[in-house]
Amino acid sequence: MFFFRALFFLVALAGLGRACAEGSGGDAPLSSLCTEKSGGVSYSNHFELPLEKYVGAVESVADLDVIRSGGFKILRIPVAWGEHLGGSPDYRIDPTFLRDVDKFVDQALARDFKVVLDLHRFDISKYSDREGEDRFSSIWKQLSSHYRTYGRGLVFELYNEPSQQISNDRLSYLYSKIVPVVRSNSPAREIVVSANRWSKVEGLKGFISPQVADVYLTVHYYAPAKFTHQGASWIAGASAWVGTKWEGSPADQKAVAQDLDLVDEWRRSNRVSGVFLGEFGVLKGADRLSRLNWIKTVRTESVSRGWCWAYWDFKAGFGAYDSSQNKWDAGVLGVLFGK
Ligand code: GLC
Repeated sequence: MFFFRALFFLVALAGLGRACAEGSGGDAPLSSLCTEKSGGVSYSNHFELPLEKYVGAVESVADLDVIRSGGFKILRIPVAWGEHLGGSPDYRIDPTFLRDVDKFVDQALARDFKVVLDLHRFDISKYSDREGEDRFSSIWKQLSSHYRTYGRGLVFELYNEPSQQISNDRLSYLYSKIVPVVRSNSPAREIVVSANRWSKVEGLKGFISPQVADVYLTVHYYAPAKFTHQGASWIAGASAWVGTKWEGSPADQKAVAQDLDLVDEWRRSNRVSGVFLGEFGVLKGADRLSRLNWIKTVRTESVSRGWCWAYWDFKAGFGAYDSSQNKWDAGVLGVLFGK
């Protein structure tokens, strides 16, 4: 009898530990974080790296305290789940990798971050229709079941930057199949969806989001790419863009506003709970004044529309944080939080 009581006590204690790790502050709906003071940042250059570059669990979670001290409340964690799958038909997520992510997610939730967990670096067009769909649904079936006891602090972003190779009709179909699965595991789970063309505004044409509660649309904004991505190693010809400035003239500002107006226009005929500007940023090498002006303009436009936002990224190429000096870039942090 004593043995069973002790066992029950231990199991209850383990459950309590997990519940505590989940925290509670992040449980407010994502829409309540769509304010100037509640922005977010993507924790890039780790879990979303290609398999051969992945170095294992985050050894120190000190970054999370740093990000919290910067004032951010949303932590977007890009994860290349598709790189860590076993073979067909199960496409089982590597349990060690899943544990690595868990540790980080738990620590983030314990710090009251709203955690947006995405599916990064996944290109469904690489596979046959059948295989692509199987991989996509297997990932989200496993994740929604694995995280079913987690509270609303955890948000799922179903597909980062679907390319133009996948039609919006197919995306809508994939979402319509997987959203009920996610919700059967966690009825209150908030979900973020994206249209094709790498989540750019242009991709919204003809995109229909799932018409159910607590679904958010995400858009990524990097226009003009010639300025934000100058020198980007992953874009052919981007070295010729180095030196491009962004003056922030009335015409420049109007161009940003007009682009973002298209999102609000799309929203009028689609039922979503909000818009999440899930990525925007400028590479660090760009002219400093132009960089600060652009970030400030895009952030201000986003907040004035009632959107949530997350800067790309924390401390990699677009970094708001200067890892060489171990401190925030005060200029970037300042314009992100309206100072
Ligand atoms: C996307 C890509 C990422 C890139 C960023 C900015 O999220 O996955 O690798 O750095 O956009 O271009």
